[in-house]
Amino acid sequence: MSYVIRDLSTYADMLAVHELQRNIWGQNDPMFALYPPLMNTAAKNGGVVLGAFDKRSDQLVGFLFSFLGREGKGPFKLCSQIVGVLPKWRGKGIAEALKRVQREEAIIQELPLITWTFDPLEGPNAHLNIHKLRAVSRTYWCNVYGSNFGKLNAGLPTDRLVAEWWINGKHLFSAAANIDNAAPIFETTGKSNQKRIVKIHVELTVDTLLLEGVADIQALKAADPSLAMDWRLKVRLAFETYFNSGYVAVDFISRVDPESGVRTNRYVLRKLTPVLARQIGMIS
Ligand SMILES: CC(C)(COP(=O)(O)OP(=O)(O)OC[C@H]1O[C@@H](n2cnc3c(N)ncnc32)[C@H](O)[C@@H]1OP(=O)(O)O)[C@@H](O)C(=O)NCCC(=O)NCCS
Repeated sequence: MSYVIRDLSTYADMLAVHELQRNIWGQNDPMFALYPPLMNTAAKNGGVVLGAFDKRSDQLVGFLFSFLGREGKGPFKLCSQIVGVLPKWRGKGIAEALKRVQREEAIIQELPLITWTFDPLEGPNAHLNIHKLRAVSRTYWCNVYGSNFGKLNAGLPTDRLVAEWWINGKHLFSAAANIDNAAPIFETTGKSNQKRIVKIHVELTVDTLLLEGVADIQALKAADPSLAMDWRLKVRLAFETYFNSGYVAVDFISRVDPESGVRTNRYVLRKLTPVLARQIGMIS
């Protein structure tokens, strides 16, 4: 299963993206779908719209849509609205490849930053964004789209982390975070889909913290919706607490136990010092 990434620029391309997005998100309400003329205009005005195509059939199997933006007096940047890959094409590095081409195109436009949001409980997204791409996050938004937002989001408030990808920062090329002296924010009990948080430490002050997420939020929602909600609310509290005290999420560690096959997902948070901000590329 090999693929090729191409820039999308025609209206026919945007209609194909619209269709693919509806397939991936399962949203039948047209209100939720991307509006093809808007994507078309964005693509012609500094936005980056990319497609991943099956090399054999030339079918569109993944896409990315971003537009030019600016927050207050911050730098001009790419706002990445959405990235999606058909289920049977996932785990093959397609989303990563789309993001890397997006970065190259932002560099050509001399933009220092790409931002987007993602659900902090979605392991594949966090692993891709915070570990593989080395984006960071210091902002948490609660229930951005309400709780009736397509089947992937069903059942939980649509909380989002804001990913900041400072594309010229040294952090992008640095080694994985050292977690030898890191303090876990949660104490948990149980395993797999029965794992629950029994205590939250909200007054830690050490340099590096570990914030555990769930292994597979879609499976947990199906197995135990109230436990999924418990994770949502406690993960929200932990992020809000530590972002307010000046921490930033700099890495995400996902480990699968070779014997049990059980996955553990943890964010690594570090105190945001001027040295770290410079290394990330937030300040020069
Ligand atoms: C998020 C999404 C775009 C990722 O696409 P993808 O092509 O599978 O991504 P990649 O293969 O580049 O990277 C995913 C990584 O997550 C890992 N992963 C898979 N399941 C995981 C889990 N439960 N927990 C942690 N990491 C996981 C994969 O192994 C892979 O890492 P690796 O390359 O080190 O093995 C895709 O899952 C998707 O379309 N999801 C639905 C739509 C969505 O949520 N879009 C993002 C918000 S707009």
